[in-house]
Amino acid sequence: MRFVALSFVVLCAAASSAAAQAPVFSDEQVARGKASYIQRCGMCHGENLDDGDFGGAPLRGAWFRDHWGSGSVAVLFTYVQTAMPPDNPGGLNDTTYADILSYILQRNGYVAGAQELKPDEKSMEAMSLHK
Ligand code: HEC
Repeated sequence: MRFVALSFVVLCAAASSAAAQAPVFSDEQVARGKASYIQRCGMCHGENLDDGDFGGAPLRGAWFRDHWGSGSVAVLFTYVQTAMPPDNPGGLNDTTYADILSYILQRNGYVAGAQELKPDEKSMEAMSLHK
């Protein structure tokens, strides 16, 4: 058992060394994102991100990890920006999408820091959701 746990740690270390950085976003941004989320996304995805109506998929927990956990922040950002909200895709400004994403990341256990998540494709590509 001990050996299995150790190999797992070594494997993770190897995987995360591939030019990947943890997602960058700030607490202040999370607070803004939460307000926009409740306004724009909450009715379908739920206040708790997994208790919505109108068919909104869960945005946290195992479901989120399975869908997004092996990609970069850019993959998730692009999806949300081009598909959500379904009646007005791309309808929010880029900063608001980045704020909302920060909130979703924080609710999935990613850790806020001093800098904001900028809606910049290149920098988001470098941020891995793998953990
Ligand atoms: C009118 C209801 C509705 C609103 C409003 C809405 N969504 Fe969705 N969302 C959905 C539905 C339905 C799906 C599932 C789409 C699919 O599987 O093709 C979805 C899927 C998603 C997914 C993919 C989830 C997964 O892993 O399967 C994300 C991420 C997401 N929405 C984010 C957002 C964000 C962020 C907002 C607010 C800007 C938002 N949505 C607003 C209905 C909504």
